[in-house]
Amino acid sequence: MTLDIAVNDAAPAPNREKPHLPDAQTVTSVQHWTDRLFSFRVTRPASLRFRSGEFVMIGLLGDNGKPLLRAYSIASPNWDEELEFYSIKVPDGPLTSKLQHIQVGDEIILRPKPVGTLVLDALLPGKRLWFLATGTGIAPFASLMRDPESYERFEQVVMMHTCRTADELNYGRELVENLKSDPLLTEIYGENFHKRLLYYPTTTREDSPLMGRITDNMTSGKVFSDLGLPAMNPEEDRAMICGSLAFNVDVKAVLEGFGLREGANSEPKEFVVEKAFVGDGI
Ligand code: FAD
Ligand code: A2P
Repeated sequence: MTLDIAVNDAAPAPNREKPHLPDAQTVTSVQHWTDRLFSFRVTRPASLRFRSGEFVMIGLLGDNGKPLLRAYSIASPNWDEELEFYSIKVPDGPLTSKLQHIQVGDEIILRPKPVGTLVLDALLPGKRLWFLATGTGIAPFASLMRDPESYERFEQVVMMHTCRTADELNYGRELVENLKSDPLLTEIYGENFHKRLLYYPTTTREDSPLMGRITDNMTSGKVFSDLGLPAMNPEEDRAMICGSLAFNVDVKAVLEGFGLREGANSEPKEFVVEKAFVGDGI
């Protein structure tokens, strides 16, 4: 599928006239995937070290002249010289109603204090690592899928991503496609390394080759039979969950039904969870 790289037009980004933001980083590229989703890359502060899967606070100056910041998963791997983000466009959202208009050369604010639970260190060793995401919840896994350490620690990595419509899957689909010829990963793990990354994209409100909620495809066993894998079990499988609160709660219950336990940085176990956004409770 060919993807259009739309160029921002109309509304001016709010910072174009104010180039000296605190903790400023410069936008190096912007790509619009749908009218609700876009990704962008910015310069990386020389001092910023992070673990793939972590998030930082980023934003713009608000109308009151104070920083308007929101949590964002870093979508690029920790070896990348730039930082990538994958973002929703909330029409009336305080930040994203403005952020969606950024252009190359603009500045954003980036607080260089990465944190988060979706890190490899929070999981016990295992055979397979499952990334379970809806919507922009794929962002931390866009980082982890590109990190050689994920394949160092696990024989197989499974990316399940579910969205309402097929076009909302395109960011992840293109990323996985590009990984097949990723120079770093093929150099370390050989030409066939990509066979260790299993991709299972599904839609729920538009026909596509694979359909259904992640929870349903796991409880029915469909994803395991489609991918030729055994049912999830605490001996072999580890997982990371990132979606809405309701999604996280439901997936957590499914994983616990398979005998997996929730862990944390301080106490690694079989799975970890992080909200992809706050709001719209259960
Ligand atoms: P807000 O006032 O923050 O949100 C308004 C409403 O929009 C929310 O109540 C919610 O219903 C909805 N909403 C917000 N974010 C999303 C979303 N991502 N998907 C669907 N609905 C949403 N957002 C990203 O786009 N990419 C990320 O990588 C990302 N990582 C995050 C990591 C963490 C740990 C957390 C807590 C949030 C993350 N978010 C991410 C959400 C982000 O912090 C903001 O909420 C989002 O940028 C919208 O900001 P806003 O000011 O425009 O609207
Ligand atoms: P569905 O279309 O059946 O609601 P949203 O856009 O509402 O955040 O949803 C993103 C994707 O996550 C949709 O495909 C949606 O499926 C799915 N989803 C939403 N809530 C849950 C949940 N509690 N459990 C599993 N999947 C969910």
